[in-house]
Amino acid sequence: MKPLRHILTLSDLTAEELKTILETAEKIKADFKAGSRPKLLEGKVLGLIFEKMSLRTRVSFEAGMTHLGGGSMLLEEQHIGLGKRESIKDVSHVLSSMVDCIAFRAKSHKTVEEFASYSSVPVINALTDKSHPCQALADMLTIKEEFGSFDDVKIAWVGDSNNVAASFIEAAAMLGVPFVVSSPEGYAFSKEEIDALTVRRQPGFSLSFVSDPKAAVRDCNVVCTDVWVSMGQESENEERVKAFSQYQVNADLMKAAREDAIFMHCLPARRGLEVTDEVIDSKQSRIVEEASNRMHAQKGLLVWLLQDDAQ
Ligand code: CP
Ligand code: NVA
Repeated sequence: MKPLRHILTLSDLTAEELKTILETAEKIKADFKAGSRPKLLEGKVLGLIFEKMSLRTRVSFEAGMTHLGGGSMLLEEQHIGLGKRESIKDVSHVLSSMVDCIAFRAKSHKTVEEFASYSSVPVINALTDKSHPCQALADMLTIKEEFGSFDDVKIAWVGDSNNVAASFIEAAAMLGVPFVVSSPEGYAFSKEEIDALTVRRQPGFSLSFVSDPKAAVRDCNVVCTDVWVSMGQESENEERVKAFSQYQVNADLMKAAREDAIFMHCLPARRGLEVTDEVIDSKQSRIVEEASNRMHAQKGLLVWLLQDDAQ
């Protein structure tokens, strides 16, 4: 019997387990590129619960499960009425009695925690207000492909200290990669959040906070941002756009980074706000590779979680 593991944040894995998942993803991707799709999860079923919109996460999980010989089903909030038509506890007990794994995109991280506490199968966080571990897996896979290893990588995060940034910091800590955060006043992580995100830190990791974006990206070969207004924060649009106006990733900012720097963004992007067309469409941009690596990274995770003898 496989041990029951929920992946609600990356710190639910050890650093070694994270490396194994990335290596598994690399191998599965190489096979896929060579035209081979081994049916490693034949007959397994993934349930997908979405309380928020998605393109990449949904498609990468559904296509990934199909390639691996399994199946998936989308359960949208309005169809299952989670917490309204019936309790989170009852949905979790019933759904987990029929599927092998559940990926859950929730408005509140607490909902996923509660759901997982009742689930008899692994639950994967498919984005909450607090974290986005699947995105960080894909981001690290993209960086490894770009530079061959993490040895000479330094990541700059410019913009909101949000769910995507949190998981990215967690991944960098676990892989020993230096990380710089540049966020405006009032939009930084708290000390408690940083302590929790870096609990599995490995040698080589450092975390610095530099409010001037140009100073922050200096010496960095990965420049990353995300939207200034995340899903659920729409009512703060006006004040956020104003607060982040000096934190746009534009050609001028990219010039301040290392010559070999790449630009990353989890997407969807609001072009003209956090990033200009000039940067997102430039040769330095890796947005498409990053998005397509969602599928390869999550295949690595699914195989590690569900394949007999994989852990
Ligand atoms: N990056 C990401 O999670 O995209 P979606 O919201 O489209 O799933
Ligand atoms: N920070 C964004 C990421 C979307 C993939 C959000 O939560 O809306």
